[in-house]
Amino acid sequence: MANLALKGGTPIRTKPFTSWPIIGDEERKLLLEVFDSGVWSFGGPKEAEFAKNFAAFTGAKEALCVANGSVSLEIALRALGVGPGDEVIVPALTWHATAWAIVQVGATPVFADISDKDWCIDPAQIRAKITPRTRAIIPVHLYAQIAEMDEILEIAKKHNLFIVEDCAHTHGSRWGDKGVGVIGNIGSFSFQQSKGMTGGEGGVLTTNDDELAYRIYGLKNCGRPWKDGRAGFGGNYRITEFQAAVLLPQLARFEKQLETKNANLKILREKLRKVPGITILEPKAKVTRQGLYGFGVRFDPEAFGNLPQDIVVSAIKAEGVPIQAPYNIVYKSGLWTPGAKLVNFGKGVSAAERLGLNSDCPVAERISYKEGLVLLHHLFLGTAADMDEIAGAFEKVQKNASELRFDALEKSVKGAARSFLKKVGIGG
Ligand SMILES: Cc1ncc(COP(=O)(O)O)c(C=O)c1O
Repeated sequence: MANLALKGGTPIRTKPFTSWPIIGDEERKLLLEVFDSGVWSFGGPKEAEFAKNFAAFTGAKEALCVANGSVSLEIALRALGVGPGDEVIVPALTWHATAWAIVQVGATPVFADISDKDWCIDPAQIRAKITPRTRAIIPVHLYAQIAEMDEILEIAKKHNLFIVEDCAHTHGSRWGDKGVGVIGNIGSFSFQQSKGMTGGEGGVLTTNDDELAYRIYGLKNCGRPWKDGRAGFGGNYRITEFQAAVLLPQLARFEKQLETKNANLKILREKLRKVPGITILEPKAKVTRQGLYGFGVRFDPEAFGNLPQDIVVSAIKAEGVPIQAPYNIVYKSGLWTPGAKLVNFGKGVSAAERLGLNSDCPVAERISYKEGLVLLHHLFLGTAADMDEIAGAFEKVQKNASELRFDALEKSVKGAARSFLKKVGIGG
């Protein structure tokens, strides 16, 4: 009789974890207020209140709300004057929106590898990728980590580069006495459905720079004048009052939720440290509060019977613990590579170059496709007993990995047969 649930054994957990989003009467009340008021967009009172509260939450002088966390990155780059002919250095491991924003403004993404210790952009890689065309760096604070911001600030200063922090995953993270989003020139946050604070969709840009705030405001609001009366230039990237109405109570509840998540995460870290073959990403000494969207865990395939990542994911899921692989590497992602055929980059422009398709980031590839695992934030909103079961699932799969060796063998034989058939021109 097998032990692993994937092979017919009894799963560790059968009841669901805390689901997301968490909604309350406050969202309903504010949504109805917006509905009844007839002021549904256009910088209404809910947006103004949320922007003020979010600025205080991050310690930013200005917070400017937009439709989502993809256009916020694009607006940030436009506000900094990044455009055609410029290069922007970005980690290979991120949601492809980070790189899409660069392509959208006509610049070229230059993918840098990540560091094994934090899965964020490796400062040594940034140094190696700087050219005379480099204008900006977009560090992405990913998987419960903050990128090496002090070193990145130093590099940016030395080479006269802008920094846009992609904080889509790290609402509430703090680096020393600063919130993420105001360490560099501009911060960009997402409030998409699954994020740690959500309005269904939504985004916000944070900055301490008045000139940038003025430009961002014009860019997102069809060039309408900023509060000092100066006219801007731009399109419509506005958030609606409905989104802001949902975000207000989400923000009000957030700090308490983050405390619960971090308390549970601490318990889980302790437990996972004892599982053979598991490496936990440790928070850096300078992190004074850690926001959490996905929590990254690395497994050593050798300690897991050389099982491929997708079989480990299926085995842990079968034990009742939702888990997933990290993002695809942008330049290999099926959501990115088709762009080479579908987008007209202009005469004489190489799509492969514009999309960074020939990049080579071995650490990011190993974490993304072989060794990385990600647990999403809402799993940490429950109890310490939930953490026991999450750790238990890892432990059980590690201990009983041999039960899955034939699945792994079958997968590898099928994979080899497919590549052979492809090579000889049979099959796709
Ligand atoms: C790292 C990162 N950057 C940017 C985005 C884009 O945010 P949005 O989905 O709000 O457009 C996401 C969202 O999933 C993300 O994970």
